Amino acid sequence: MIPHRLLSILYGLGLVACASAIPITEQQVLSDLDSEHRIESSRRLSGRFLHITDPHLDTHYKPGTSVDQVCHRGKGSAGSLGAEGTECDTPLALVDETFRWIEKNLKGQIDFVLWTGDSARHDNDERIPRTASEIIDLNEVLATKFIDVFEDRGAPRGLSIPIIPTIGNNDIMPHNIFKEGPNRWTKRFTEIWHKFIPEHQRHTFEEGGWFSAELIPNKLAAISLNTMYFYESNSAVDGCAAKSEPGFEHMEWLRIQLELLRGRGMKAILIGHVPPARAGAKRSWDESCWQKYTLFLNRFRDVVVGSVYGHMNIDHFMLQDSHAVDIIAAGESTNEPQLTVQSRSSYLSSLRSDWAGMPSPPDDMSSKFFFSDDWNSDEQGDSVDASSEAMGKKERRFLKKIGGPWAERYSLSLVSPSLVPNYFPTLRIVEYNITGLEDVTTWADAPYSDDSFESFTWDAEDIDSDDVDQQKKNSKKGKKGKKGKKNKKNKKRPQFKIPDHPSPTAPPGPAYSDQALTWLSYAQYYANLTMIYDPTAEPQSLSASPSTIEDNETTAGHIHLYQVEYDTRDDSIYNMKDLTVRSYYKLAKRISNKNPKKADMVTDHTGDDESSEAAKNNQKKKKHRNRVWRTFLERAFVGFLSDDELDDIQR
Ligand SMILES: *[C@@H]1O[C@H](CO)[C@@H](O)[C@H](O)[C@H]1NC(C)=O
Ligand SMILES: *[C@@H]1O[C@H](CO)[C@@H](O)[C@H](O)[C@H]1NC(C)=O
Ligand SMILES: *[C@@H]1O[C@H](CO)[C@@H](O)[C@H](O)[C@H]1NC(C)=O
Repeated sequence: MIPHRLLSILYGLGLVACASAIPITEQQVLSDLDSEHRIESSRRLSGRFLHITDPHLDTHYKPGTSVDQVCHRGKGSAGSLGAEGTECDTPLALVDETFRWIEKNLKGQIDFVLWTGDSARHDNDERIPRTASEIIDLNEVLATKFIDVFEDRGAPRGLSIPIIPTIGNNDIMPHNIFKEGPNRWTKRFTEIWHKFIPEHQRHTFEEGGWFSAELIPNKLAAISLNTMYFYESNSAVDGCAAKSEPGFEHMEWLRIQLELLRGRGMKAILIGHVPPARAGAKRSWDESCWQKYTLFLNRFRDVVVGSVYGHMNIDHFMLQDSHAVDIIAAGESTNEPQLTVQSRSSYLSSLRSDWAGMPSPPDDMSSKFFFSDDWNSDEQGDSVDASSEAMGKKERRFLKKIGGPWAERYSLSLVSPSLVPNYFPTLRIVEYNITGLEDVTTWADAPYSDDSFESFTWDAEDIDSDDVDQQKKNSKKGKKGKKGKKNKKNKKRPQFKIPDHPSPTAPPGPAYSDQALTWLSYAQYYANLTMIYDPTAEPQSLSASPSTIEDNETTAGHIHLYQVEYDTRDDSIYNMKDLTVRSYYKLAKRISNKNPKKADMVTDHTGDDESSEAAKNNQKKKKHRNRVWRTFLERAFVGFLSDDELDDIQR
């Protein structure tokens, strides 16, 4: 810990005087805690978790150097906590301050951490090429930070909460290139992450760089995917279609994990580094991997609660359409990642046109059902029938198109923007429903031996390649030996087992309807470095900022680096009831609407005080702008872009 009195010397500025963090909103679920229970059980769930991604720690970063020389040398404007809005990586000072903030504000307030990779700096300086040991060291610094903050010597695993890491494309060397395991990277990460990877999963991890771990014993597990095997830019592997590929093996493992969890009545959160981006010309994953992923998320829609990714550094989400699954015809395409605002915004525009192409609710439904929260007034889920009297043919046809009232045709992936200040440094805190889980044994209290995941090693050879889908399987029971025969349409059969749908009697999963474990809202926190560096800047929208900070260790933690950028819980623009697929489907339709409803229009952003004729005309033209799309763009870039820059993108 850096003593407070040294901070102003180290960072040379009014850190202390600046922003006061807006405290994490109290979760109402916790307010009616029964105090007896609080005494009996040492720990309870708080219904929150942290998603942190892309720290990109760079120990060569030097304040006062040039951003054109990646903040390593020259004279320039590089700030002490990072160079916001540049391609420079993250100085240790920002990592230190971020963890100090986490310790102060989140310790004891969250149930687990999802950490989606790229902890090491980019390989972007020819004069200081990265070495394997530097990459490992940088990762170790981050791992140690988490251990320091969440250490609990009294707990069986030595930590108070589970920390779930995953490998990023810059956590390996050369970047993007990751060969089949076991390899030196899987071996080294097994060591660095030995407190995070359950013992019985270490072998699996060493083999492939993926693992699963319980988050809430017997209720919820995390599945950490090794997206390097899906990543288009990893030229050492080739997708998920051929049995010889690690991506194929990975997908088989994923399917089996989800089946095991379904069998135990458990739910799963998936995490990975590179998200399954697929819009316009962009394909982050090999198409064959995307196809399987989308298929599995659809089939296991009763199990998967949600999935989080990083890598792209922009705040957004994607919907995978199960109707786009054509497992036989998985094509291919290549696309290098691009980092400019232009390429990112053209990707976002492609997403938007894809969303525009999703079925739209009929006009009269829009007001009656779609934009109200009343698609389903019946808690139990059979709302199509329940409300079908009020619903016309058109409405029912629409619901059928999107997979019923829960929009089960789609699955969802959330991408959090990065800690590295490509824009502003940022963190996400998600709230989820813990109704009925008030008294469960938490991870920290569960005895170590109770980690009841079956040790499961499996062999690609065991997969019955003739096993197509449930229907065909049933109709062919006992009639094996048809291997190699082609079906009527002369199509090849998929060379892997297609998982079953949820049982027809199973209620919709937590990703689709609000229940225990459903994600309810998230708060995006950001550090406005521009303001922090400007000693004259008025702290904005601050509640009672302490003007005097006592000079001791305890109060040093009060440095309020992060504040809320937006919180979906009370955000009037996104206006999301929860984070279910249906809520995101509605949001996507609103973002993509070229003729937005009145409430979704930009009323005026050129300024009320202009009264000239020109300004009025201007306003008229702008009247039809969709402010949900505008807000989505603004948030994609963590509020960093100016109105003019956003105007340019929006055009
Ligand atoms: C959580 O889920 C329960 C049903 O299991 C529901 O009654 C409750 O309203 C949900 N809580 C929140 C805050 O949405
Ligand atoms: C960040 O701070 C600067 C300087 O105070 C201010 O102009 C800007 O609007 C702030 N941006 C955000 C997103 O808070
Ligand atoms: C340190 O800060 C704590 C918390 O504000 C305060 O109670 C304590 O008196 C302070 N100690 C000293 C030595 O200033």
